[in-house]
Amino acid sequence: MPDDVLWGYEHFINPSLARTYRFMGLDHAEVTGEGALVVDDEGQSYLDLAGGYGVFAQGYRHPRIIAAAHQQLDQMPLSSRVLVSPPQVALAERLASLTPGDLTYSFFCNSGTEAVEAALKIARGSTGRRTIVATTGAFHGKTYGALSVSGRELYQAPFLPLVPDIRHVPYGDLTALAREMSEEVAAVIVEPIQGEGGIVVPPDEYLPGVRALCDQFGAAMIADEVQTGMGHTGWLFAVEYSQVVPDLLCLAKALGGGVMPIGAVVGRPWVWRIFDENPLIHTSTFGGNPLAARVALEALNVTVEERLPERARELGDWLISELRALRERYPEVLASVRGRGLMIGLEFHQAGFAGMVMAELFQRHILAVYTLNNERVIRLLPPLVVERAQLEEALMAFDQSLAAVNAVKDELA
Ligand SMILES: Cc1ncc(COP(=O)(O)O)c(C=O)c1O
Repeated sequence: MPDDVLWGYEHFINPSLARTYRFMGLDHAEVTGEGALVVDDEGQSYLDLAGGYGVFAQGYRHPRIIAAAHQQLDQMPLSSRVLVSPPQVALAERLASLTPGDLTYSFFCNSGTEAVEAALKIARGSTGRRTIVATTGAFHGKTYGALSVSGRELYQAPFLPLVPDIRHVPYGDLTALAREMSEEVAAVIVEPIQGEGGIVVPPDEYLPGVRALCDQFGAAMIADEVQTGMGHTGWLFAVEYSQVVPDLLCLAKALGGGVMPIGAVVGRPWVWRIFDENPLIHTSTFGGNPLAARVALEALNVTVEERLPERARELGDWLISELRALRERYPEVLASVRGRGLMIGLEFHQAGFAGMVMAELFQRHILAVYTLNNERVIRLLPPLVVERAQLEEALMAFDQSLAAVNAVKDELA
């Protein structure tokens, strides 16, 4: 069966992607999943340390989330968009109560990139300004606006020209940001921890500093929590660690509970004035549909009631220290281990080392992937329901994989 599936990728989806899967030995087809495990067509289980790139915070097929989906599916999956829709309101209310400060209003869409598009439009529209300041290494998505504020040329070059009036400054650098600030700046967009940039944790004063500069110049602060949101960092929203309230908070990925695609941008009242004159100034046909909204509400409730952020913090502190101990054993392979909670990056001295560790882990039935804007970093974003015993097994697999790379590192270099 995997050969058929790869053949299908080759002929009907993306031939080059099919070659990449083959090259990496990823020739097994997924069939189902449960908790932190994915199961293939031969019944073999894999521990998913990549967590679907952050989608499966609550695990695969969480029973409560699946039940909510079934119930809404039987009742009313999509909205007439003429009558008002109760599940959308219930989700928006819950987001208003769980997000920090006076983040109050929600706009719903279907993905992370759409949440970023909405935030950029709301920021420009509500300030009447054009300039957006973003950071190098950032990843915000691949539609035009989100791509324009992302910070890697590789994904931009074939598609020029991008959205104008975007400036990039180094991530984590408040002095550089201050130099770009003026009364022409509509917004500063940042990830609280850069995900695809290589799990880059900024200095503690960074987010409060971004907030202060936005306040000083009347710009909106956009926190892109598409990857950091929903508990992975040890907080429901990563901005809580810094006690910062952004003007716009973007969510997607794990908001859908590993069951439905959904994106959201939550905003403070002053930016929502963009909708005053025309409530339909920005819309999405499927955004906030009842099925996705009901599932997202259950995903939020599960995350809070099962104390998944706290679990991420405890397991993460322990896992990071164990991985750092491995770094001591293989210092010529593994350069650093960093992160917060269960959002962890392992930086290798060379991209080839990261690639080989991924392949070695896969042989040991562990899924881990590198970050899009930094191929030297393997990122761990496991389901937060992962068992400590599963992580202990993963550590053994890491040890063996690092040893294998260590043995051939001179040939790989
Ligand atoms: C921080 C961040 N923003 C936006 C996106 C884009 O999300 P999507 O792929 O759902 O469009 C991602 C995806 O990885 C992300 O990590």
